Amino acid sequence: MILAPSLLSCDFIRLGEELAALEAAGLQWAHLDVMDGLFVPNLTFGPPVIRRMREVSRLFFDVHLMIERPERSLAAYAEAGADMLVVHVEAARHLARVLAEIRALGVKAGAALNPATPLSVLDYVLPDLDMVLVMSVNPGFAGQSFLPLAYNKVRALRRKLDEAGSSALIQVDGGVDISNAALLAQAGAAVLVSGSAFFKFPPYADRYKAFMAAVGSVDSGKNSRQEV
Ligand code: DX5
Ligand code: ZN
Repeated sequence: MILAPSLLSCDFIRLGEELAALEAAGLQWAHLDVMDGLFVPNLTFGPPVIRRMREVSRLFFDVHLMIERPERSLAAYAEAGADMLVVHVEAARHLARVLAEIRALGVKAGAALNPATPLSVLDYVLPDLDMVLVMSVNPGFAGQSFLPLAYNKVRALRRKLDEAGSSALIQVDGGVDISNAALLAQAGAAVLVSGSAFFKFPPYADRYKAFMAAVGSVDSGKNSRQEV
């Protein structure tokens, strides 16, 4: 199990220190929520901020692009230092092409699905995916309530990926906390994103351990940038 803290809930004025604190606490991933004010009703940060973060952090940067027309800026995010680019299927008009472009940039490729989006949109791109992000809230804000529909969606996706022989990771994002982490892991999730349920409860090393204990997993040390 990989825990990817969502920096949307960190203290932005202390961004560098927050990144360092995550690394010191043993975390391997950071989930970066990019919002454009169009695809979602909120705005966060873009390539210049990610580039500066890259200079000070060795965490695996899992970049969740909640933006319209992602094809226009994939190269900018890859050059800024993303390790994985995750596009929303609702925003990527030519999904297969976008995924191919991401991989051609030398980074991992993921597809995100809003809660109301069916899994069938992935049927013809399964071999092109390193990760599928199942949203368990409607994207745009941290601190929303978890939508339980995610459990069955993750289970069905796990079956679909197994049948296709895909080793893509399943990620769940939105309202994840210690109370639902175990069920999500059992359903087949391999990467859990947590914003408010992580950053509100320092020290981070203890919170990380509590999440891992909840899913009955120990840090294998194999989730680093080099090994993912
Ligand atoms: C929602 C974002 C999530 C969010 C998670 O649009 O994609 O990553 O910040 O925050 P919590 O865990 O508080 O729901
Ligand atoms: Zn996210």
